[in-house]
Amino acid sequence: MSGNAFSLKDIGDIQNDVLDEISQAGSLQVLEELRVRWLGRKGIVQDYLKNLGTLSKEERPVAGKVINELKDAVKTALEVSANGFQASETIRRLNDEKIDITLPGVRRNFGRIHPITKAMASILEIFIELGFSVKEGPEIETEYYNFEALNIPENHPARDMQDTFYVNGGWVLRTHTSPIQIRVMENNPPPLRFIAPGKAFRSDPPDASHTPMFHQVEGLFVDEGVHFGHLKYILDVFAKKMFGEKVRLRFRPSFFPFTEPSAEVDISCIICKGKGCRVCSRTGWLEILGAGMVDPEVFKAVDIDSERYTGFAFGMGIERIAMLKYGINDIRLFFENDKRFLDQF
Ligand code: PHE
Repeated sequence: MSGNAFSLKDIGDIQNDVLDEISQAGSLQVLEELRVRWLGRKGIVQDYLKNLGTLSKEERPVAGKVINELKDAVKTALEVSANGFQASETIRRLNDEKIDITLPGVRRNFGRIHPITKAMASILEIFIELGFSVKEGPEIETEYYNFEALNIPENHPARDMQDTFYVNGGWVLRTHTSPIQIRVMENNPPPLRFIAPGKAFRSDPPDASHTPMFHQVEGLFVDEGVHFGHLKYILDVFAKKMFGEKVRLRFRPSFFPFTEPSAEVDISCIICKGKGCRVCSRTGWLEILGAGMVDPEVFKAVDIDSERYTGFAFGMGIERIAMLKYGINDIRLFFENDKRFLDQF
């Protein structure tokens, strides 16, 4: 169908051909190409209309009508086909995006409680039940509260027992939670019955049983007539609630500058029940804390009358308790943030 001359019969054939081509188009893109070729501003239909002028007066209206019919037929066919493609595209997407409501949901990664926090909570709960309140103190302490007031004078060999992080100007990272004893007694008259949890710091190189930061719970009980028997009773109740009714306690004489007498307290090995195994180094016993009767020198430092009042104090390492309770053999595991470890608690 070249430019100038055309016959009406040709147009009839052409219409059949183009409708065939449209029905066979494989994509919306091909349809668009056909639309441009036939109906575009420089398309074939426009070309025909331009050439109407070459026809005679009589032929012209008839040809015009036929060309317009061709145009409408092509337009309709293109629209129908395009709708078909769009519908099948919609169906395909509906299929792809179908939600299978029988599939299990996406599991959210919830955080969980750190084993140290968990052990700490169990310890606090037991003492709160026994009527103890909970106190806290600063992690950066003065040498006075960390040592002197606890009867550990400068140059006293007891200071060597604790490898201290010294901060300029008479400050230290507290080496134990015992300074909280002093702070509370300074501000509160007896009777006193509290526990004090928190972090402690010692300049120890990390190994299976040491990290430079660890946690302790301090306990203090001051009243008239408090004696060592009360200390034994409270610790016995604590150990049984923490490790089970069958656990036995052993008190070994020891030394702390702030208690007199002092003891180191063991529980019967919870692994071998006291028979002797690797965990208890074949002794049948596991050390869990230090304790003793408050030294009169400490009462003197906080202006409590040691003729009238007596008291006991104890301090335990929470990592140690958690390791025994949960069967953990390396303290460093607590602080490595390995989710495979932490997820087990
Ligand atoms: N503060 C001591 C320590 O860290 C433990 C302790 C506390 C001992 C209270 C006796 C009384 O080793």
